[in-house]
Amino acid sequence: MSNLIDDLEKLRDEARTALADVIDLEQLDVLRVRYLGKKGDLTAILRGLGELDASERPLVGARSNEVRAALEAWIAERREALAAHALEERIGAEKLDITLPGRAHPIGSQHLISRIRDEIIDVFIGLGYQIVEGPDVELDFYNFDALNHSAQHPARSASDTFYVRDYSGDEHVGPEPSAVLMRTHTSPVQVRTMQEQKPPIYILAPGKVYRRDVADPTHLPQFTQIEGLVVDEDITFADLKGTLDHFVHAIFGPERRTRFRPHFFPFTEPSAEVDVSCGICDASGCRFCGGTGWVEILGCGMVDPNLYRYVDVDAERYTGFAFGMGVERIALLRYDIPDIRMLLEGDMRFLRQF
Ligand code: PHE
Repeated sequence: MSNLIDDLEKLRDEARTALADVIDLEQLDVLRVRYLGKKGDLTAILRGLGELDASERPLVGARSNEVRAALEAWIAERREALAAHALEERIGAEKLDITLPGRAHPIGSQHLISRIRDEIIDVFIGLGYQIVEGPDVELDFYNFDALNHSAQHPARSASDTFYVRDYSGDEHVGPEPSAVLMRTHTSPVQVRTMQEQKPPIYILAPGKVYRRDVADPTHLPQFTQIEGLVVDEDITFADLKGTLDHFVHAIFGPERRTRFRPHFFPFTEPSAEVDVSCGICDASGCRFCGGTGWVEILGCGMVDPNLYRYVDVDAERYTGFAFGMGVERIALLRYDIPDIRMLLEGDMRFLRQF
């Protein structure tokens, strides 16, 4: 029996020393298993109990309980101390350096196309124009018929225009429309506006337009146009010229000149295309302007009185002008961007420059 008591005491003393040297919770756990675990030292000693006299067992049992209790208490004590220490160390290591600059959250900014669009809008708001919008998905009546396009006009062909639905083959009762399409220009807003408003009309209609073009350095299948329409008494071509000169100077700078070249549009008569003097060579001719000294920026003309037949405007009393420009193209010219697709590629290194 004294053997077992000795073993218990030896275990207790050894454990006390070992526990005092433990430096972390993992080591502590290893020792706990070694001394108190199911296959541990204490269990091993107690296996000897069976060989003792029944009279001796209670005493050894009591001593072993004391040793177990002592070990458990020391282990708990060490655990608490080690945990507190670990926490302190962690807090020490995690010190916040409040002198570090904060992490910046990048905020978005307006895309170049929207910015130029808004700048153009501002110029015309300054002239008293009202901003209106029309639908991107349009009836062919507004996109073509009411704009004086003949039934055979090439722009109507399926290779030039995105059709949403073509009713022309259907048997249908009632008047046209015969097709729904993605508008190919913002000019249908002219007709919609004249249907709804009486002159004087001074409107600007920005929006997206769609054409079956393959994207290349100067074309996109979807782009942005801005349409202008003025209908009032005594409106002449001089008003159109003065208005567009003002616009060009506001957007490109006062030193730039304009040039009106005769052209044809079904819904204006006379019609013109407007060029701006090349900003790179000052109209002396360079590679950017193809040697001509001029770059085209828009189409325009006097409203063809034929259009007034579709809307309730008195052609004897009123005259008007209209113009339509491509916003992306104006962005290219203003910033000497060589390829229109760069605007839509989403390369931040490019877009951040503006
Ligand atoms: N809608 C024409 C185009 O897209 C431009 C234009 C608008 C021409 C208004 C004259 C008057 O090409």
